[in-house]
Amino acid sequence: MKRACVIGWPVEHSRSPLIHRYWLGLYGVEGAYEKEAVSPEEIEAFLRSLGARGYAGANVTLPHKEAALAVADAADEAAKAIGAANTLWLDEEGRLHASNTDAYGFMTHLSEAAPDWNRGQRPVMVLGAGGAARAILHGLIAGGAGRILIANRSQHRAEALAKVFGPSVSVVPWADRSKDLAGCGLLINATSLGMAGKPPLDIDLALLPADAVVADIVYSPLETDLLAAAKARGNLTVDGLGMLLHQAVPGFERWFGVRPKVTPELRAHIVKSLVGA
Ligand SMILES: NC(=O)c1ccc[n+]([C@@H]2O[C@H](COP(=O)([O-])OP(=O)(O)OC[C@H]3O[C@@H](n4cnc5c(N)ncnc54)[C@H](OP(=O)(O)O)[C@@H]3O)[C@@H](O)[C@H]2O)c1
Repeated sequence: MKRACVIGWPVEHSRSPLIHRYWLGLYGVEGAYEKEAVSPEEIEAFLRSLGARGYAGANVTLPHKEAALAVADAADEAAKAIGAANTLWLDEEGRLHASNTDAYGFMTHLSEAAPDWNRGQRPVMVLGAGGAARAILHGLIAGGAGRILIANRSQHRAEALAKVFGPSVSVVPWADRSKDLAGCGLLINATSLGMAGKPPLDIDLALLPADAVVADIVYSPLETDLLAAAKARGNLTVDGLGMLLHQAVPGFERWFGVRPKVTPELRAHIVKSLVGA
């Protein structure tokens, strides 16, 4: 029986077990998917003993994504570009491989929900400069985005990202995030603002074109205030749950040998666990 797990600190909130156990049941795979709470002091030793613990691989969540990349014996292009790994697997020689599937997850869902997101290559506004924003920048650039604007409360973090990703990315002051929506074709919230228990995202959509797409990677609640405001003025909206579901696909395929599908039934299964859904 193959086993995989999600490793985090804390890990209790992770929805990965719900997703992977749903697929294990659906595809009749003899396997298991566990939660492992591992502290920062223990993470390196834990990852080095993944095989000895009986695991074929793992998902890695906060705060271990950078450590996972550092410990891995090999990493794919996405993990290297993003500087963090969320999916690990062992090969037959016991070498630990690292990937980052967040960009894949975000872009797959965006392309399904808003196939014309890049029509006219209008600027994209990304709010946030944390780990998720970095994955999204990688995905947007690989997906053909033209100009990308990043606004972040701590401007130096946005500047650091712009330096990594090159001239197509420019920084706008956090205070200008509403004003600089004029002419944008896509707005993405990649901050934690608007998530249940966090402060609201304060932004005025008045200058955003009516045919722009608005995406939020926060998925709890599923319809954030940002998405509700965008919908009310006629913008096409993309929620954060699709990213979460699609990022899980490559790991399941690696560990259990079946490429799983993201279906309305899986979505409904996870939605039941979300606040305000
Ligand atoms: N849908 C998915 O599959 C998916 C995947 C990954 C993450 N997420 C969600 O995305 C969010 C960000 O994740 P992350 O890993 O990038 O976290 P992170 O690295 O901790 O970054 C958090 C971001 O939010 C900003 N922020 C936090 N509090 C703020 C405030 N009061 N005012 C203004 N900005 C604030 C931070 O700005 P500063 O730099 O100024 O602190 C930073 O840009 C989380 O809610 C996470 O749950 C969703």
